[in-house]
Amino acid sequence: MRTGSIRCGGGALEDIVSLTPIGEPRHKITVSSLHEKKLHREPITCLTAYDYPSGRLVDEAGIDIVLVGDSLAQTMLGYENTLSVTIEEMLHHTRAVRRGVKHAFLVADMPYGSYHVGADEAVRNAARFIKEAGAEAVKIEGGEKRADMIRRIIDAEIPVTGHIGLTPQSVNVMGGYRVQGKTLADIEQLMRDAVALDRAGVACIFLEGIPREVGAMITAEVETPSIGIGAGPECDGQVLVFHDILNLTFGPPAKFVRRYGDASALISEAVQAYRSDVLSRQYPSDEESYHLPKETRAALETVTERKRSMRR
Ligand code: KIV
Repeated sequence: MRTGSIRCGGGALEDIVSLTPIGEPRHKITVSSLHEKKLHREPITCLTAYDYPSGRLVDEAGIDIVLVGDSLAQTMLGYENTLSVTIEEMLHHTRAVRRGVKHAFLVADMPYGSYHVGADEAVRNAARFIKEAGAEAVKIEGGEKRADMIRRIIDAEIPVTGHIGLTPQSVNVMGGYRVQGKTLADIEQLMRDAVALDRAGVACIFLEGIPREVGAMITAEVETPSIGIGAGPECDGQVLVFHDILNLTFGPPAKFVRRYGDASALISEAVQAYRSDVLSRQYPSDEESYHLPKETRAALETVTERKRSMRR
């Protein structure tokens, strides 16, 4: 366990204890350590984060991959789907997460439209995430049909992570958020997609919203680590959305979501308690107030008294 100190409010130095798990020295997670984990059948942990505090908490909890997902369109910005989020918005959030993440492998989602026009533009936009926001890899939705473009990005020294199955940027083509890979033809296509990404040399493949059996088949077939979300327990790793596990989404969760906390209730209770304390003048107390130095207070009392006696 590490201890450190921070300068706190009034200037006093206070000891703090890192949230890093005791007895687990952290190594920087890289593309090769993810592959090592697959080789040794060690589960890979991944969670989304969208700002400095969530990035820092997720990293300090020991998660391997922090994904600045374009799901932030919905979780952070209140858009209806992921299609409207811009590259500037994604860069802004990636920069904030970067400042909080030290050990995890930091992946940023390339938003819809940023890699759909041509490979040159895709490479240029991917490079922005590395140069301007400090991401270590980008994520691109789609399999076989994106493989050549992904090779071009990797040739530009930019690690890429793939994403197949239920790809939310294709919501209009899929006709909704539906589980993919339920027919033999769809399973064959998914296998071709996974193999194409594997051959292109992606750092890992996110598998979203597919039957457990298909997740297991893909995981066994490819050398690249698979990271599942609604793709069953046989994947090499799992990813969930930060707001889903903490009940911050204002809606019913998908089948695969497990809630690990209720930040919604925690925040509501805290805000209501604060409001009530202000209304009843319970906040702030004398201890929560700044006070004049003794000499200034005495001088002020003298001045006030003199003014009072002049008025008499
Ligand atoms: O945007 C996102 O959060 C994602 C994960 C769900 C894989 O793409």
